[in-house]
Amino acid sequence: MRYLPNDDPEVDQLIRHEELRIENTLDLIAAENHAPRSVLEAQGSIFSTKAAEGYPGSRFHAGCIWADELESLAIARAKRLFGAEHANLQPHSGVSANLAVYFSVLKVGDKILTMKLSHGGHLSHGDPSSITSKCFHFKHYGLNLETERIDYDEVGELAQSFQPRMIVAGASSYPRLIDYEKMAEIARSVSACFMVDMAHIAGLVAAGVIPGPVPHADFVTFTTYKTLNGGTGRGDIVPAGARPENQQNHFPREPRAPPPSICWPQRRCVSNWPWNRNLKSGKKIHWKMRLLLQPALKKGGIVSYQGEQTTTWCWSI
Ligand SMILES: Cc1ncc(COP(=O)(O)O)c(C=O)c1O
Repeated sequence: MRYLPNDDPEVDQLIRHEELRIENTLDLIAAENHAPRSVLEAQGSIFSTKAAEGYPGSRFHAGCIWADELESLAIARAKRLFGAEHANLQPHSGVSANLAVYFSVLKVGDKILTMKLSHGGHLSHGDPSSITSKCFHFKHYGLNLETERIDYDEVGELAQSFQPRMIVAGASSYPRLIDYEKMAEIARSVSACFMVDMAHIAGLVAAGVIPGPVPHADFVTFTTYKTLNGGTGRGDIVPAGARPENQQNHFPREPRAPPPSICWPQRRCVSNWPWNRNLKSGKKIHWKMRLLLQPALKKGGIVSYQGEQTTTWCWSI
């Protein structure tokens, strides 16, 4: 940064402090990643000042020719990467991705069945502290406490008694693979939509390390700054083969043009060399995770790791 030290030394100083902090600490935060310099460069580019409400080719502001190209590029990459029919990429967050899908097919007050926050779910899946709980009526399923896995029988029973309009799979803290096919089957049995929030695992899905929710889900949401290794951003996709009504009816107008950084993770995963690097780093993460687990196990915490399949592990305290 050449201008900031002169124009605003206070902010510049704080950025330096944060860079140093990152260099000298190990934050084990599953919701974070370290984006490469090129992503940060793209994120701080001239696009960050562009007003571009609407979608490519249909904007409320003038001068969107390159913003349209950029957004179309991001959409094309996301579609290719995840096998989607539609994609909506925005410079926002995972919470707004979930809200966009909720509001695209539900009415205020409709019922949604999601995973409990205390069993690994996310705030935006209807926690009382989240705006989502003010708009919709949530009920939650949990894990079987013996197996520490989703209890699909319980999900099925709750779906029958609650009759939700939407069922959500995906979590902030669940180290196992989710049986998307089974969840979709349960959703279909009560005529509910099935949404998967793959915020945490999108990079692993993109690299083919674990199976993804396409083609079972009606909607999939993700963030770009966790395992996809990009800057802040998010996407919603409608998988290829999704029900026709979902293809028509997607995404209320809350968008603006994505910054170029949002295109980067997709490019990285689609092209060849970074794909390999992503796979290697996925294996490395597993190996390092085991090393880190040893002291945790000695301390007597119950760690959900046996046969772990994602890059998260959980320590009961
Ligand atoms: C499963 C899940 N969904 C959504 C989010 C929200 O993402 P954001 O903080 O970008 O709104 C998170 C955050 O970690 C998450 O774990």
